[in-house]
Amino acid sequence: MEATERHLRLLTETIAAVNSTLDLEEVLHLVATKVAHALEADACFVYLYDERSDELVLRATHGTPIDAMTRRPRMRPGEGITGSAAAERAPVMLPAKAHLDPRFKEFPNLREEQYESILAVPILAREKLAGALNVRTLRPREFRPEEIELLQAIADQVAQSIVHAQLYAQAQRRVAELEALAKISEAVSESLYLEESLEAIVKTTMDAVQATGAALVLEDGRIAWPEGRAGAYAVRTPLRWKRRQIGELVADKDAPFTDDERALLEAIAHHAAVALEHGRAVMRGVLAQEIHHRVKNNLQTVASLLRLQARAEDVDPREALEHSVNRILAIAAVHEALTEQREEDVELAELIDRLRAMLVQGLGSDREVAARLEQVSLAGNRATALALVFSELLQNALEHGEGAVQIELSRRDGDIVLAIADEGPGPDGSHVGTGLSIVRALVGDELHGTFELRSDGGTRAEVVFPA
Ligand SMILES: Nc1ncnc2c1ncn2[C@@H]1O[C@H](COP(=O)(O)OP(=O)(O)OP(=O)(O)O)[C@@H](O)[C@H]1O
Ligand SMILES: [Mg+2]
Repeated sequence: MEATERHLRLLTETIAAVNSTLDLEEVLHLVATKVAHALEADACFVYLYDERSDELVLRATHGTPIDAMTRRPRMRPGEGITGSAAAERAPVMLPAKAHLDPRFKEFPNLREEQYESILAVPILAREKLAGALNVRTLRPREFRPEEIELLQAIADQVAQSIVHAQLYAQAQRRVAELEALAKISEAVSESLYLEESLEAIVKTTMDAVQATGAALVLEDGRIAWPEGRAGAYAVRTPLRWKRRQIGELVADKDAPFTDDERALLEAIAHHAAVALEHGRAVMRGVLAQEIHHRVKNNLQTVASLLRLQARAEDVDPREALEHSVNRILAIAAVHEALTEQREEDVELAELIDRLRAMLVQGLGSDREVAARLEQVSLAGNRATALALVFSELLQNALEHGEGAVQIELSRRDGDIVLAIADEGPGPDGSHVGTGLSIVRALVGDELHGTFELRSDGGTRAEVVFPA
């Protein structure tokens, strides 16, 4: 059969095979296999041109494997024999001992010295360099002009298929990127809780770049939502907000990250930064609102305490004011504890001890005051009520009671018990003041508990309420 006919068949066969798929990796492997077969060569190497790095990157081989875990061999146009063909936009052919040619470029992870000949041609898509490919033979071989033409013809034909497959791959990546980003913004907009958003971001990152592991490192170095495991390769992408770095998105893989994956991580990191700041802003907004709400509540409590005090008859105004000051300071003590503890719950033992010191000093009392306090915590708003109750009862014990004062804070079958005892005979019922009415109101309405003032060989004021 006429050489030209055979070549035409080889050409059409190769094109048909290459055009049977749009998957870039498959297209490139088909090119390598089919070209080696068409040229009856022992090996074929297919390089793609990476415009960004101005490099020809080896993407597929037939005859000699590339060590998967190593960096892909790459050369600049004009470098190596194949690079020269790419730069000169023309075939380069060496019949034998190609590795001795001064242009020959050796790659540690690509065994080529066993090959004699090389025929390299550029892959041009509409005059633009898209890549290059070469065929090698183990024995010396003088490729004939029509074979060189055939290889160039195949290269010209597959150029389009490669460009289409590249465009398709780009489109797929963009879709994956948009899907990942859509998932993130959905998670961020749906959840009020920063934590949930962070978790969604890390999970989406894992899926989007097939990571072995991912995590967010926050500004204070805390690692948020670590997923999976460390890999051979890690990429740390900064989270930037208004030029300030507010964290890092860390992703691990067992294979090198591609430039596209790095670009996707950049995009995800940008969304993560927005989510983080957005979440914090919401939190700040929520917090600010909460704080104003609490301040309003407390000021209203103070106002009702003062109103209550103002209604009391035949009380010494100075003493009444002092008592009001102590009540307001009791409320302030709770918030001092809340700011220090950053938690929503208040450690009562600490609060009671703080109030005891404040009241003993405030009243200038020299009475012995002992305390036995168990570790109990209470939500902020109930702690305020308990602080007021405690300060009323301790004031009473110090002002109206006698002898040593004993403070107890303990748990009893799921309830919290606060008792203030002194050695005095207790109230003689002659005087009803504001203090005990405040105590009864708060214990009833805020703590949903019971209050008892018993006098048997000393006075014991006891408050019991559900924890
Ligand atoms: N531990 C106590 N020992 C003896 N008497 C007490 C004790 N606690 C309260 N009382 C008596 O009960 C009365 C009412 O107490 P309450 O706390 O309501 O008013 P107050 O302490 O007199 O003034 P304020 O309204 O400023 O507290 C007191 O005046 C006092 O006579
Ligand atoms: Mg009192």
